[in-house]
Amino acid sequence: MSAKTDREHFEEYRDQTLAKHTILEKYIFAYFNIVKRTGGSNLVYIDGFAGRGTYDGEDGRPIPGSPLRALQKIASHADLASKVTTVFIEKDRHLYTQLVGHLEAFHSANPSIRKPQHQLGSFAPSMAQELDTLAAKNRTIAPAFVFVDPCGVDGAEFGIIERLLKSQDKAEVFLFFNIEGVRRILGLRDKMADTLSKLLGSDERARQLLQRVDACHTAAEREEAIVTFYEELLRTQTPARFVVSFRVEKEDRKITSHYLIHASQHPLGFAIMKDVMWRVGKTAEGKGGLALEQASSVPMNMLFTPEWEAVRQSILAELLSGMKRVSYFCVDLVQKPANRLCSKAYKTALLELEAEKRIVVMSKTGLLPAGDRPRLKGVLTLGDDYYVRLP
Ligand SMILES: C[S@@+](CC[C@H](N)C(=O)[O-])C[C@H]1O[C@@H](n2cnc3c(N)ncnc32)[C@H](O)[C@@H]1O
Repeated sequence: MSAKTDREHFEEYRDQTLAKHTILEKYIFAYFNIVKRTGGSNLVYIDGFAGRGTYDGEDGRPIPGSPLRALQKIASHADLASKVTTVFIEKDRHLYTQLVGHLEAFHSANPSIRKPQHQLGSFAPSMAQELDTLAAKNRTIAPAFVFVDPCGVDGAEFGIIERLLKSQDKAEVFLFFNIEGVRRILGLRDKMADTLSKLLGSDERARQLLQRVDACHTAAEREEAIVTFYEELLRTQTPARFVVSFRVEKEDRKITSHYLIHASQHPLGFAIMKDVMWRVGKTAEGKGGLALEQASSVPMNMLFTPEWEAVRQSILAELLSGMKRVSYFCVDLVQKPANRLCSKAYKTALLELEAEKRIVVMSKTGLLPAGDRPRLKGVLTLGDDYYVRLP
């Protein structure tokens, strides 16, 4: 992507940018609060494609970009403010200068946070240098959350993501996967430059992906082939066994613009991220989901937007073998790497099935039907410690 379009990115604040920022800020707050208990006194937040710090709002007022949003979350909690080191990398000198101004102003207004670090440079070589420096001192990086947010396909190199995840077992990556760009590059066939090889980690993988895509018959199959290829690379070539993708549709056409992909090494992070994404998601079915469908009036029949009736049927099928604790769905199943549902989805479906008398909620001992349960904002609650069974 040219420098001009990178700069233009900040001239408009779109719904999809808000969705990305909301997922990021909600998740990192949960992530740092969990790892601070076991991660020692130093935690790291890296924004590898930091941008200029703000976007132009419609009314001319600046809207905070990812650097300021992350800093705000970190500053909002004394423990995080004192423990999290933040690092911002930006390649474009003009955007970098603006970024530094915002970081310094934020730090002056919030002196309790660690001084934000920043670098003018490219994500992959900058990260590699940092990891080399640590390795030379026989050290490794502290628990790190790394945000990889390029506009295009360039720069999000698999090799560095793999190295990072391998060097720290609490490290996680949240990345913008530009499937439109990947489709375009695949269309160039033997004229593909090395961008795709870098994104996937080798020329051989780029060739394999091209073969898989060539074997597909429809656009939906091709899309699924691309995103599952990348997800599988993360699951098999890095220690991040827990990978979830959030699909973002274009604003004006029913085709996918990009995916937001989260790679974690821990089932809890995976379960929390799915819940965060689900609440931000908007699908034509109106239940939340792992997608932001902007143009669709009809849901796409894809892995990533589970059809609601299928969710409900899967619960009924599980109950055929007998009564289950609510936590079986909302904790055990959601932490399985292949499960794309989240706790919020299971709870919503269980409550619907109860209202339709297709399941019975049993007490916490499982011996009697549950009596009156509390309501929260008028909605019946369902704790993880209740039981459910078929009537
Ligand atoms: C989508 S924007 C980032 C937006 C920012 N994360 C936010 O949400 O506020 C991508 C940014 O990455 C920068 N960039 C592009 N290639 C890069 C690379 N290889 N390393 C670091 N920054 C890069 C661009 O100049 C642009 O500012």
